[in-house]
Amino acid sequence: MSVNGVNESLALAKNLQNKNTDQQMNNKIAQLVNDAFEKVMEIDAKVENPVEVRGFNFEGSFSYDKLFDSFKTTGFQATSFANAVEEINKMIECKLKPVDLDCDKVTQAAKEFEAMSAKLAANNEYFSIVQQTNCTIFLGYTSNMISCGARESIHFLVKNKMVDAIVTTCGGIEEDFMKCMKPSLMGSYDYDGVQSRIDGLNRIGNTFVPNDNYRLFEEWLLKILDQMLIEQKEQNINWTPSKLINRLGKEINHHDSVYYWAYKNNIPVFCPAVTDGAIGDTLFYHAFTNPGLRIDIVEDIQRMDLLALFAVNTGAIILGGGTSKHHILNANCMRNGVNFSVFINTGQPFDGSDSGAQPNEAYSWAKIRLDAAPVKIYGEASFIFPLLVSQTFAKNFPIKN
Ligand SMILES: NC(=O)c1ccc[n+]([C@@H]2O[C@H](COP(=O)([O-])OP(=O)(O)OC[C@H]3O[C@@H](n4cnc5c(N)ncnc54)[C@H](O)[C@@H]3O)[C@@H](O)[C@H]2O)c1
Repeated sequence: MSVNGVNESLALAKNLQNKNTDQQMNNKIAQLVNDAFEKVMEIDAKVENPVEVRGFNFEGSFSYDKLFDSFKTTGFQATSFANAVEEINKMIECKLKPVDLDCDKVTQAAKEFEAMSAKLAANNEYFSIVQQTNCTIFLGYTSNMISCGARESIHFLVKNKMVDAIVTTCGGIEEDFMKCMKPSLMGSYDYDGVQSRIDGLNRIGNTFVPNDNYRLFEEWLLKILDQMLIEQKEQNINWTPSKLINRLGKEINHHDSVYYWAYKNNIPVFCPAVTDGAIGDTLFYHAFTNPGLRIDIVEDIQRMDLLALFAVNTGAIILGGGTSKHHILNANCMRNGVNFSVFINTGQPFDGSDSGAQPNEAYSWAKIRLDAAPVKIYGEASFIFPLLVSQTFAKNFPIKN
């Protein structure tokens, strides 16, 4: 054997030995990994009534009802959507039942309303709607819900008397009337802000409200404010935000308007921050051109809170956060919390905002009853709300002609 041949044999033998050592090492590591896995998985799963995660199967026949039914087991916000459908349908079921003051969930205040109502009614126009239903449904939404096409879903609920009281912010009032005068327009999120200013287009997300719409609205409103001032002086009318909105609903006399139907159906619309928008700008101007008009927010808070206090049961459907969300829940503290509730918003809880506060936080304030099953959908409401209405009110609420 050559010297080279000896060297090759030695190298081979060395290699084999290394491989064996590597394999022993690998086996050792595999054993450790196996032990670790066993440790992680050592607890046997305990689930009562297990439900399989399974989404919609497009191989079969398609229907939107089946698609939405499948959301229940799809997980994430799809499941929250399905839970919200169930919660709103419970609200509707409760509302369609005859008024039941003997039910154990009814508050003492609600039981005492009948005896008190004769004395109270003289002071409050809205007592006529208290306890006319077994479940008073409060609908709340941010201004932009009227800016966008969610307005038409809200219109459907109000026209058909499916909700009992509304809370929104100033933009959510004025833009409904403006749309009866001139349409809002589709725009783009990317439309340049400077160009938009030059073009007289006020941008809300990917929609525009042209300047003309504001001009028309403010001219119209000024004349009504003049008349309201006369009525304040001559008939001693104490105007409140809800009375102002009711009056505007009457004056617009337009079937496309949410607040025309609210006026027609005697649905109060509360807007505690009524000055934060074009209505406020016009009130500011009017206070110089024809001073003296007063808008009383105290009378409205009495109306709103008493509506909740004396209600048999209550439900809340709240799109977005801010004032609309808090005002409804705050009123429901008067009755130890709302019975049914659904929230759709993009708010997050980590910043301590009320917009982002989860239902779990609302329990702590007595805004939601401890035995209630509130649902929050994290998402943008312009597309979630019409879908929710399609699976709830549009299906299960009889429409009276
Ligand atoms: N078109 C408008 O938005 C408009 C017009 C005029 C005046 N304003 C005024 O601006 C002020 C602030 O408006 P606001 O209080 O109505 O609410 P906002 O627009 O400040 O929203 C409050 C919170 O609601 C949630 N939210 C908003 N839009 C949502 C959506 N599409 N889907 C899901 N969640 C959403 C977010 O968490 C947001 O932080 C008000 O005083 C209002 O009158 C608004």
